[in-house]
Amino acid sequence: MVNKTHWWRDAVGYIIYPESFQDSNNDGVGDLPGITSRLDYLKDLGVNLLWICPVFDSPMDDNGYDVRDYYKINPLFGTNEDLKTLLDEAHKRGIRICLDFVLNHTSDEHPWFQKALADPNSEERGFYHFRKGKWVDGKLLPPNNWKGFFATSAWERVGETDDFYLHIFSKKMPDVNWANPALRQRYYEIARHYLDLGVDGFRLDALAHLAKDMTFSDSTVPTDEFGRAYDPSKFSSRPELFDYLAEFKREVLDHYDCLTIGEVGGGVRPEEALRYVCFENGAINMLFNFDTAWCNGAYGSIDKRDDEIKTDIIGMKRSFESWYKSCAGKADLPIYWENHDHPRVLSQYGSTAYRGESAKALATLLLFMYGTPFIYYGDEIGMSNVTYSRIEDFYMDVGNRNDVEEKRALGYSDEQILHYLCRCSRVNARTPMQWNSSPYAGFSNVAPRVKVNDNYLEGVNALDEMNDPYSIINFVQYAIGKRKDPEIAALLKKPWKIVDMNHPDVFAYQHEGEDERLVVVANLRPYSTFFGFYHTIRDVVLHNYGDVIINDHVFTLRPFECFLLRV
Ligand code: BGC
Repeated sequence: MVNKTHWWRDAVGYIIYPESFQDSNNDGVGDLPGITSRLDYLKDLGVNLLWICPVFDSPMDDNGYDVRDYYKINPLFGTNEDLKTLLDEAHKRGIRICLDFVLNHTSDEHPWFQKALADPNSEERGFYHFRKGKWVDGKLLPPNNWKGFFATSAWERVGETDDFYLHIFSKKMPDVNWANPALRQRYYEIARHYLDLGVDGFRLDALAHLAKDMTFSDSTVPTDEFGRAYDPSKFSSRPELFDYLAEFKREVLDHYDCLTIGEVGGGVRPEEALRYVCFENGAINMLFNFDTAWCNGAYGSIDKRDDEIKTDIIGMKRSFESWYKSCAGKADLPIYWENHDHPRVLSQYGSTAYRGESAKALATLLLFMYGTPFIYYGDEIGMSNVTYSRIEDFYMDVGNRNDVEEKRALGYSDEQILHYLCRCSRVNARTPMQWNSSPYAGFSNVAPRVKVNDNYLEGVNALDEMNDPYSIINFVQYAIGKRKDPEIAALLKKPWKIVDMNHPDVFAYQHEGEDERLVVVANLRPYSTFFGFYHTIRDVVLHNYGDVIINDHVFTLRPFECFLLRV
């Protein structure tokens, strides 16, 4: 057992989607040396914890979440040596690194799966979930009616046999069988390997899904037009999961001062979170749920008009509050707006018409809540959703490819589907980092695999941002500096609460110290609103407009106006 120092509590995290951060060898794909070359940028920004999406060898069906070899860095991203260099250089700068560890599934090209297919009696066959299909009226159907996350059946037939294997994501990502102790040991070895190499922790991908309903019975939830039932309860937070995680902790995690962030995308309610993360006996440190990522009704919104997409600010506040209430003093809490699975937050809750104001308001809200904030790459320069004009531009995401097929089969026009993807696709958040205004935004010298957002030519790039004293990046850098100010850092640990929960436009909260409060007030609308305020302001620490309008204890808040105040 090592002594856990909980170093992440005071960290500022930053999420990198490696394919799109910086290309160092001009093949159109970002890579590890590219990240290393930008460490000074990150250090200057003030972040000191990176979570990097998967970098292991992969055929890239799901952009690295389909791992072919856990012990080898994806040649697209560099070499094992490059990872070591990145770790060393990051550590020299006081930056820690968490790798994204995919342990719910492998690629179908992983040697385990290849052996499992080749030899039904192999040990590896037991590493996956193979089941016989059902013959109905002369037709071979999957073993049950489960639908996966990527708009298909959760089963794929093995050649011409009666066998199927389970895949809750793409068919090239067979789920591994965590009920098998030998399989679990393989994952522990991989984890130890990277921790021994100097990695500071892991983001644990799709963690809620490791244990399945092993009866594999049909779901009783209503089925879709194709007879498939979307019922994540069949493979989320099942009781056995917590036994596996306890073992993982005992055998591996307890022996390193490492951070573990479990990704449970929408599958875990705040009340259930402590089973994963409570200080006394939770196996991991933090959970990324996504309750606060879709508070504008955009999820699955193909049938909605643009004017129906509006942030439910009260609902969002309630959600942050319920996570706080469940975790405060009992578990560590990460704070984030989005990751690589969502649209850009600027397009979700901010506004491209008020890019600077809204990006700063969102950054302020993020950086001063209770917990460890995670900035998603590019948010610090106001990157927003793409404006692609062809459905095919989204095809680098297998989820989107399947979605398009499903939507076409349901009768939607390509125009509707394109509009929907521009609003909701996760490719929106996967476009190349916009470094400057040279071709391809300084990301690469050649056309990147993921198309650059054209707005890099309109000032949305790091260099132009740095040259503007009133820019988003300069604001974010200053705000992170303030977050580290010892007096403010101490206030951040004080009890937190939402101020004026029922205000429909303003997200305001405070930390209550003994004789001082730290208050954030942010108008999250593209129009002005009023906000009553009865405190004596001691210091305006952050503000995104040039002057303050307050009359008779009422703020007039202009579009996306925000304050950080000491009162
Ligand atoms: C990741 C996704 C990925 C999926 C399958 C998710 O949790 O964040 O990007 O497609 O897991 O690995």
